[in-house]
Amino acid sequence: MVDQTYDYDVLVIGAGPGGYVAAIRAAQLGLKTACAESRETLGGTCLNVGCIPSKAMLHASEFFDAAANGTMAQMGVEVTPTLNLEAMHAQRRDAVKQLTGGIEFLFKKNKVDWKKGRATFVDAHTVTVGEETVTAKNVVIATGSSVTPLPGIEVDNEAQVIVDSTGALELEKVPGRMVVIGGGVIGLELGSVWRRLGAEVVVVEYLDQLLPGMDGDVRKEAAKIFKKQGMALRLSTKVTGVEVRDGKAQVSVEPAVGGEAETIEADCVLVSIGRRPNTEGLGLDKIGLEVNKRGQIETDHEFRTAVDGVWAIGDVIPGPMLAHKAEDEGIACAENIAGQTGIVNHAIIPGVVYTWPEFAGVGLTQEEALEQAGGDKAKIKVGKFPMLANSRAKTNHEPDGFVKVIADADSDRVLGVWAIASVAGTMIAQAAQAMEFGATSEDIAYTCHAHPTHSEAIKEAAMAVQGKPIHV
Ligand code: FAD
Ligand code: NAI
Repeated sequence: MVDQTYDYDVLVIGAGPGGYVAAIRAAQLGLKTACAESRETLGGTCLNVGCIPSKAMLHASEFFDAAANGTMAQMGVEVTPTLNLEAMHAQRRDAVKQLTGGIEFLFKKNKVDWKKGRATFVDAHTVTVGEETVTAKNVVIATGSSVTPLPGIEVDNEAQVIVDSTGALELEKVPGRMVVIGGGVIGLELGSVWRRLGAEVVVVEYLDQLLPGMDGDVRKEAAKIFKKQGMALRLSTKVTGVEVRDGKAQVSVEPAVGGEAETIEADCVLVSIGRRPNTEGLGLDKIGLEVNKRGQIETDHEFRTAVDGVWAIGDVIPGPMLAHKAEDEGIACAENIAGQTGIVNHAIIPGVVYTWPEFAGVGLTQEEALEQAGGDKAKIKVGKFPMLANSRAKTNHEPDGFVKVIADADSDRVLGVWAIASVAGTMIAQAAQAMEFGATSEDIAYTCHAHPTHSEAIKEAAMAVQGKPIHV
């Protein structure tokens, strides 16, 4: 298959969930494939410092919290937990080691060559990786993203006072007070970890609600839930500076619209105001490829960039910065390179915040659905069902949350599904699949769901679209 002019059919730059999946699929399709990765281990942000280690800490801290906050006692299990933070970190590191090692195994199994080092374009088909020069007929840019810095605030993960998400995963002791800058996904997930382990957590968010991009009702409920759990929320507030004095951070904040400034003292500050695409040092100028205003590489639906033979996927291109989006793009891109038809339906990409409870959604928010309907409320129908009325959630002492199904009033087609529930991240898969098959709310309402499960709340919310839920 390999075109003798080049060393490889495909060279993927970056071995995150976008890149490693693209490389494996390309190899499966008979293409001679290499993947350049500058990290010591494969798996990118997701496996090394993102999805996996954060979930390891969330899962472990959930047990500690359940023991400490009385949830277990409610069920007749009386324990006083003792935190062994080093052991908690060790199980996190072990999960990362096993999973990143697993990708190395998959590369060997599929005969993907790992080129260790930083990749830089020489021309569209020639890339240097460290000392080596590699040529390929197709080059896939899957370089991912890194933390957006806050001007004037210097992250120092070693010192553990001002940290980013990578530093916040590694704290050696539970901070007395932690200020989280940014009430988005990272701030709430990692803020939850340290709150559960005993930190006083203050979330400073520039906007008037948490979790931008999620449904309005979900965002409002999130604020209530996190407040109830003991997080202090400073919404519509901006951080203007952070100074470190005697090992403590002095965080200057003021109202987003301007006004009186104040200082919050903290043992640790987490900067989590978003991520930006990695294109620096890639030599895009050598191939004449420009980035857009947000620093992203634009592609067409097949993941081709403006430069022939150069493709791009994952966090470095527009769209939500999510591992599963990157993976699906990796598969589709490799299939397109192989001459097949690789498609990603960007309208149906679920998003999940893995806090307690979990917040999940797929498709349009109610606000977006209404906007799409030209502001005509009669054109959409919404069904909502509280988790309090779901027998399984109630039995499990998980009263918070709801499911909301948004449908088109004429066709009854499901436009969006939102869920707050202990297992919302798992529940949302059925909504994504139903929407992928063009389901109506009636299709979901008349699908038999096992009892007692949290998922019955999706069925009930779908029944509520017709105004006929059974259990409320
Ligand atoms: P990345 O995973 O960023 O991988 C890119 C790789 O390219 C990196 O390993 C980098 O070293 C390498 N690279 C970059 N430039 C070069 C170069 N020039 N030469 C060689 N190698 C290079 N998403 C979810 O869906 N679910 C979650 O639960 C979740 N949790 C997260 C938690 C945290 C704390 C963070 C930070 C992110 C989380 N994400 C989560 C987001 C997810 O990690 C990213 O969306 C995903 O990793 C993007 O995949 P990618 O392949 O595009 O890039
Ligand atoms: P984010 O975009 O989710 O949240 C950043 C928040 O910071 C926003 O609410 C924003 O309004 C706020 N903000 C921006 N500037 C600010 C300022 N100066 N002061 C106060 N607030 C400010 O970004 P986050 O949390 O850093 O995550 C980055 C990306 O990583 C996300 O896009 C997400 O897709 C991905 N991720 C996904 C996870 C998941 O799927 N569970 C988990 C963690 C990260």
